[in-house]
Amino acid sequence: MAYRMPTSTLLLQVFVLVFAARCAYSWRREEFRNCNQTPFCKRARGLKPEETSYEASEVVLVDGHLQGKLFPLSIQEGDPSSPLSMHVFFYSDHIIRLKINELNDPSDGTKRKRFEVPYVIEDSLDEKRLWIQKLVEENGASVVTLASNLKVFLQHKPFQIRIQDGEKCLLSFNSNGLFNFEQLREKKEGDEWEESFRTHTDSRPYGPQSISFDVTFHGAEHVYGIPEHATNLALRPTRGPEITSEPYRLFNLDVFEYIEDSPFGLYGSIPFMLSHSAVRSTGFFWLNSAEMLIDILAPGWEGDDSNKKQELNESDHIDTQWISESGIIDVFFFVGPRPKDLLRQYTTVTGLPVMPQLFATAYHQSRWNYKDEADVYNVDDGFDDNDIPYDVLWLDIEHTDGKRYFTFDHSLFPNPKEMQEKLASKGRHMVTIVDPHIKRDDGFFLHKEATSKGYYVKDIHGRDFDGWCWPGSSSYLDMLNPEIRKWWAEKFSYTNYAGSTPSLYIWNDMNEPSVFNGPEATMPRDCVHHGGIEHRDVHNAYGYYFHMATADGLLQRSGGKDRPFVLSRAFFAGTQKVGAVWTGDNTAEWDHLQVSVPMVLSLGITGLSFIGADVGGFFGNPDPELLTRWYQLAAYYPFFRAHAHLDTKRREPWLFGEPYTSYIRDAIRERYALLPYFYTLFREASMTGVPIMRPLWMEFPDEEMTYTLDRECMVGSSLLVNGVYTQGAHTESVYLPGGLWYELKTGKMFSGGDYFKIPVAMDTIPVFQRGGTIIPRRERPRRSSTQMVNDPYTLLIAVNGTHEAEGELYMDDGNTFDFAEGAFIHRKFIFSQGCLTSVAINSQKSRKKFISSSMIERIVILGLELPITTHATVEPHNRRVELEVGPSLLRSGMQSNAYIIRKPNVLVSEDWLIRVL
Ligand SMILES: *[C@@H]1O[C@H](CO)[C@@H](O)[C@H](O)[C@H]1NC(C)=O
Ligand SMILES: *[C@@H]1O[C@H](CO)[C@@H](O)[C@H](O)[C@H]1NC(C)=O
Repeated sequence: MAYRMPTSTLLLQVFVLVFAARCAYSWRREEFRNCNQTPFCKRARGLKPEETSYEASEVVLVDGHLQGKLFPLSIQEGDPSSPLSMHVFFYSDHIIRLKINELNDPSDGTKRKRFEVPYVIEDSLDEKRLWIQKLVEENGASVVTLASNLKVFLQHKPFQIRIQDGEKCLLSFNSNGLFNFEQLREKKEGDEWEESFRTHTDSRPYGPQSISFDVTFHGAEHVYGIPEHATNLALRPTRGPEITSEPYRLFNLDVFEYIEDSPFGLYGSIPFMLSHSAVRSTGFFWLNSAEMLIDILAPGWEGDDSNKKQELNESDHIDTQWISESGIIDVFFFVGPRPKDLLRQYTTVTGLPVMPQLFATAYHQSRWNYKDEADVYNVDDGFDDNDIPYDVLWLDIEHTDGKRYFTFDHSLFPNPKEMQEKLASKGRHMVTIVDPHIKRDDGFFLHKEATSKGYYVKDIHGRDFDGWCWPGSSSYLDMLNPEIRKWWAEKFSYTNYAGSTPSLYIWNDMNEPSVFNGPEATMPRDCVHHGGIEHRDVHNAYGYYFHMATADGLLQRSGGKDRPFVLSRAFFAGTQKVGAVWTGDNTAEWDHLQVSVPMVLSLGITGLSFIGADVGGFFGNPDPELLTRWYQLAAYYPFFRAHAHLDTKRREPWLFGEPYTSYIRDAIRERYALLPYFYTLFREASMTGVPIMRPLWMEFPDEEMTYTLDRECMVGSSLLVNGVYTQGAHTESVYLPGGLWYELKTGKMFSGGDYFKIPVAMDTIPVFQRGGTIIPRRERPRRSSTQMVNDPYTLLIAVNGTHEAEGELYMDDGNTFDFAEGAFIHRKFIFSQGCLTSVAINSQKSRKKFISSSMIERIVILGLELPITTHATVEPHNRRVELEVGPSLLRSGMQSNAYIIRKPNVLVSEDWLIRVL
């Protein structure tokens, strides 16, 4: 939740509401810094190409990697002229890593070391190191050959790195000469390092230490990624002829009522950019957790050297400038060649997404706040009375005793265990909020312990930093310190967290961290962490460390048995290893519904696939139409949760009456029907890094029409979803890529490769199944996902032009880690030449087994033209089963005919074959 100014009188409240609705953003905008108010950003943007050239020398091969020094060629005023150290490492899958830091003379133990971000890079990366044996000098460059055509050129003077595929350059570093590295130095008389912004002064005891450089994506048509921003998927230029925009900012902030089209930084940061064209996809990642600003330079920007580009025979390229306040250069280049390869390469470095529990992939009901136990029971009953499934009920900050986390307000929640157990008896779970600000109350055990152990982040004077947040005066645990994370994790044991039970999971909000009275509503940059690290260095990773410690706590409380579930608002590269994230405090407006799609997509393509936006919008009151449209779209978000601000009207799914209750019920039930498909996609993400919700170009990389689409998206490789983003819409214009598509509502077939005007009514949004795919579904309505585990499956087959299709189904016990020892079922279904076969994807012998008695109860085939037949045969045993032709029963309105095989009664876990011809 974002901080909203406390309003004491009704008049003031009305004023604030009216005012907020009209121009809240411009009103708050000045509370956030822009580039001109950020001296290091302004300095970097003002650099002229080649102004600060460096020369690489002493480049040698050491232990299979390149090592050298960078000497400044021109010395900027006041800058010490010491050389920098440079290392280039190579890994399998053609991953290239460049590290540049100040030279640390080992004899000088007093020299301050620049911050390197821990706990992001996978330990296993080291095992993937390639030991380069051969270094060739060629035209003033050191050249390493990675594959027959793939070469890395380290040009010496001026220093520059180019990664080439044959003659074609893929990626380059410093080819525009914008590289600059401000080194730490002793403060001298007259040095004024303090900086002020509004009422805050940053003491900056170590002076200017920013870094900037340029990266060029050669051959690229578009660049994507670097979340979190509420804006288009395909990133727009921020600098160039007639373009004056703020750079994309990466600085984790609790932004009050963010607007839907802005490069300003929001709650989390992933400094990973992807480029794509029909020819090639490439990626670039900078591991740095200080404030970062990224400019996308339009052709003709002040340093654009078109002659040079012509020499390289480049029609397309995208120049970018990367600027950070501090830290080091630790960057990774990924060469694709296709979008999904980039995800594999990026997650090789930063880790694969964690496999969630099954319940967490279902529908979550939240609000600030479910007031008391009676309210909880009423909402829980409301779902049952209205035949709407849900899995998790959430309690926001008001459930605590005066915003002391790990406590319950005993007048409102006298029996928290009994409450959780009652919901658990229906297979449901609960979530409570636990934020990182700790109430400074001497009677509060957490504060007492944290104070006596010295576990808080310190202010510039060495005192426990004291900031204002929900509980009032608060301090913040130093989550950079592993000892403190361990201590924090122990707080989640059932004995330490009184009132918690095994069905209770956790939500980490406000972990940017949000500090209401801090600069830009966060922690001052000169606060001090473990090891003397300044907050400015670690800021963007703070929320990640907090999230990590909480998830460890849930893991430990179950003795390592259950998969944790922790939702976080702040995030960083690596968060995918920990848990889910949502897009923060959005607003009940149509534009916010629409921007949720590019926001979720941008996070997905940067590795964080367990992501969703608050259904209905956090601020404001959605009308029933907007709320219905939101549910219909959100049913396809990987993370599906409704949430609302304290001041909003109640909006549980049945409160708007018919026909809306039915529409919303249908949307939520559709998610439940698709849970087997979603769970299979979560498995895929956890093995490959490929996100659940994907841009169309990830599935259709050759189709240029898809490169800028972000009103529609793919869910897995089989479903295309297009939300309805306008009030009273009667049609939606939907682009369908080449191939056959089947509209799920009508069963109607489309031959893609064009835009289609799709009629829409209030009952659904346009959703298409791709020809050539098989989707496993579970059609029996239940109260919760955990009550579906033995239910039979329906296979929905949509054939392609050659009457073929394929699909997968992954199942495991839904909550433990036994799958890692082979306790899962993973099937592949293949439909070809009128035959559907089921084969195991992983048939290796495993230590543990997962057993399921679930059957296939129905098979529906769309798009098949068959001679009239009345039965199918099932093998083994050559059993005859009925085959019907008729409207599919999946949706009442389906018009087109489908072939339906009822009760083939084959086990999902076994090999079998069904012949329809
Ligand atoms: C660019 O194209 C020209 C003519 O097609 C060719 O002669 C030249 O070698 C090319 N340059 C590079 C760097 O590939
Ligand atoms: C149809 O799908 C099959 C299996 O996925 C594939 O091998 C085949 O090439 C596809 N045919 C067409 C026309 O797309």
